[in-house]
Amino acid sequence: MAEIVVVDSKQAAGELVAAEIRRLIEATADTVLGLATGSTPLPVYAALAASLLTHPLDVSRVHGFALDEYVGLPAGHPESYRTVITRDVTGPLGLTPANIHVPNGDRATLEGAGADYERAIDAAGGVDLQILGIGRTGHLGFNEPGSSFASLTRVKTLAPKSRADNARFFASPDEVPVHCITQGLGTIRRARHLVLLAFGAEKAAAIAAAVEGPVSASQPGSAIQLHEHVTVVLDEAAASQLVNGDYYRYIWANKPAWQGI
Ligand code: F6R
Repeated sequence: MAEIVVVDSKQAAGELVAAEIRRLIEATADTVLGLATGSTPLPVYAALAASLLTHPLDVSRVHGFALDEYVGLPAGHPESYRTVITRDVTGPLGLTPANIHVPNGDRATLEGAGADYERAIDAAGGVDLQILGIGRTGHLGFNEPGSSFASLTRVKTLAPKSRADNARFFASPDEVPVHCITQGLGTIRRARHLVLLAFGAEKAAAIAAAVEGPVSASQPGSAIQLHEHVTVVLDEAAASQLVNGDYYRYIWANKPAWQGI
C-alpha cells in the first residue's frame, strides 16, 4: 500500500519531500529526478532551493526528466514545460541545464520523440524519485483515463477538463494545446520511488480513487497501487474523501523515524 502522509500545509509537504530529495543526492551525486510541472510541486522546488541556499550541496550531477510537454507550442513559449522547468527547477536549484530533459513537443519531429525519451531515461539509469501531481480527471503525467498501465512516452490528447484546468496559465482557454507528449504509466511505474502530492478539495475525489479505488485504467492514478514504493503527501482537504484517513494518520504517527519516506 502507498504510504499516505497528511500534512498541515503545502509548505510542510514541500519540506518533507525536499528533505528526501536532499538525502538522495547526498547519498548519490547522480540521482535522477522525475519532475512534474503544474502548481502542485512548486512547494517542493521552493523548499529544496531554500535548503540548498542555506546548506549548499553539489547538484551538478543530478539529472532530471520532466513528465510531459505540450505539443506545438513555439520554442520559448512561457508555458511550454521546457520553459517552466528551466524557470522553476533548473534555475532555482542550480542544476546543470544539459542534464535536464523535457519530452520533445515539436510537431515537425514528434515521430520517434517518445522512443527517444525512453532511451534517454534508460541511459541515465532510470528515475530514482518521481514527483507527481494528479489532475481532476485522475491523470498522472498527462495519462488521461483509459491510458494503459503499460504505456510508454507518447503523444496523447488532453481531456477537455484538463485543458480547462490548465487554461489559468494561458491568455485564453483556446490557447491550451489539445495534444501533449507524456511519459506513460508504464514509464512512471518504472521509477524507483513515486511521490504523489495533492492539495485542495478539488483533488480529493481523484486522490480517493487513486489510493482506495479499484485499480482501473479509468482511474490512471490507481496505477500507484501497483508500485512497491509510493508516498502520497496530502493536505487535509485533498485527504478529505479517504475512507481510511484516520488509519493512515495513525500509521504515520507511529512510524519508526529510521524508515524515512
Ligand atoms: C504536470 C503533470 C500533471 C499535473 C496535474 C496537476 O507535469 O503531469 O499531471 O501534475 O495536472 O496539476 P496542478 O499541479 O497544476 O494541479
